[in-house]
Amino acid sequence: MNLFYKSIRWVAPVLAAVLLAGCERPPVVSVQSGYRGTGMEQVYNPRLLAKQASLNAAPESQPPASAEGPKAREVFQNVKVLGDLSVGEFTRHMTAITAWVAPQEGCAYCHNLQNLADDSKYTKVVARRMIEMTQHVNADWKKHVGDTGVTCYTCHRGNPVPAQVWFAPADRKYTENSLLGDLAGQNLASASVKLTSLPFDPFTPYLKEDKPIRVNGNEALKFTGEAANRTSTKQAEHTYSLMVHMSDSLGVNCTFCHNTRNFQSWSEAPPQRVTAYHGIRMARDLNNAYMEPLTKTFPAERLGVKGDVAKVNCATCHQGAYKPLYGAAMAKNHPELLAVAKPAEAAAAAPAPAAAAPADAAPKADAAQKK
Ligand code: HEC
Ligand code: HEC
Ligand code: HEC
Ligand code: HEC
Repeated sequence: MNLFYKSIRWVAPVLAAVLLAGCERPPVVSVQSGYRGTGMEQVYNPRLLAKQASLNAAPESQPPASAEGPKAREVFQNVKVLGDLSVGEFTRHMTAITAWVAPQEGCAYCHNLQNLADDSKYTKVVARRMIEMTQHVNADWKKHVGDTGVTCYTCHRGNPVPAQVWFAPADRKYTENSLLGDLAGQNLASASVKLTSLPFDPFTPYLKEDKPIRVNGNEALKFTGEAANRTSTKQAEHTYSLMVHMSDSLGVNCTFCHNTRNFQSWSEAPPQRVTAYHGIRMARDLNNAYMEPLTKTFPAERLGVKGDVAKVNCATCHQGAYKPLYGAAMAKNHPELLAVAKPAEAAAAAPAPAAAAPADAAPKADAAQKK
């Protein structure tokens, strides 16, 4: 007995230290962000915030180039998207994307330096589509990115592969008699859901497929049969896994978008929730219209375990900040990225999917807001 107490005297502090190592070191500051008494507060740690700030500084833009002189498409041989720029503007754009995407590797990351018109490197083919994708975000997703907009730097931050992308997780196969049973896509404490036991792939159902996110019924047990709300706890867990990803990506609490008195209510929620609603549709659109069709363009080593291409989620742009780069408006210094380029002769035959409008986004959100 004596021995037991003797050993617990040193085991207990060690255990406590191990447990606490998983916690955030104080101080913690809370900032009120909604009506008094609603508990709508954001919790920050100034130490972590300082680190975040250094990650989210926007680089300087080069001074604008002259729009005078011959057009890029008249001078160069294989320009399909940026042909309307002057040669000066085109060259400025090339210098900018090199700094944003491949500062170590330089022009050779996308180009065969013997022949700049050559499309043999996959990186150049991907980059051309990325230019169109960036234009599409800035022109057609203003409901999310406003006039702040995005540039290649928003996602790439000087890396050829953005720091935050997602792939479909590997299938986990258990035999029917396995002791572990079927995990049903959860209980793995995975980083995608901030080490919670929630479903570890919040992305496939919501940021690629269009699975319903809403789980609350409007009226308790009022309807039966077809009309009944049959949403299960299991489905609600999937919604929560997406919400944890969204909170984590933006570095905010649930109360940034919800009055937690009523998670469902749009009228009681801060306006950021509507922005987030469009963000979900935007990420889905980018993944389906731009990333997925590029799958075959990428070499095998860039693909995930299931052979799928790297895809976009909230963290790809936000990287821990409530607005990417804390809202620095870089895009306005790059007017070539603000409007969807008119299709060149080659593209005119088959209109690019970039022209497709974000069909489902607007009306539903407005309707939802009026509820
Ligand atoms: C991230 C990829 C990428 C990097 C890095 C890059 N380029 Fe390009 N470059 C492209 C793409 C894509 C096109 C085609 C644009 C289009 O179709 O509108 C292109 C086209 C060109 C062309 C036109 C060639 C022709 O005759 O069709 C020139 C010139 C050029 N780039 C120069 C440069 C220079 C100089 C650098 C380095 C400072 C550079 N590029 C870095 C992607 C890149
Ligand atoms: C919304 C986020 C986003 C924006 C904006 C964006 N990209 Fe990308 N980019 C991605 C993702 C995701 C990938 C896939 C990562 C991979 O290569 O596996 C990618 C891949 C690439 C690659 C291939 C890199 C490699 O080594 O495989 C190039 C080149 C590239 N982007 C250039 C650009 C250029 C140029 C712009 C701006 C005109 C741009 N991107 C804007 C998300 C973005
Ligand atoms: C960045 C904004 C944002 C954050 C942060 C956020 N949510 Fe949400 N939440 C939304 C949006 C937008 C929807 C509606 C999605 C839709 O209808 O497509 C939603 C829906 C929900 C729903 C379903 C409501 C219904 O109608 O059934 C629940 C529950 C929920 N959120 C819980 C949470 C929890 C818990 C957290 C914190 C872990 C959280 N949310 C953080 C934006 C956010
Ligand atoms: C293509 C890049 C990109 C992606 C992907 C993206 N966002 Fe954003 N988001 C932005 C930009 C840029 C802004 C700033 C808009 C502005 O200044 O008005 C923003 C603003 C927001 C805001 C408003 C913040 C405020 O204080 O007003 C919310 C909320 C938000 N995003 C949530 C999300 C969620 C949730 C996702 C994933 C479902 C997401 N975003 C994905 C680029 C992105």
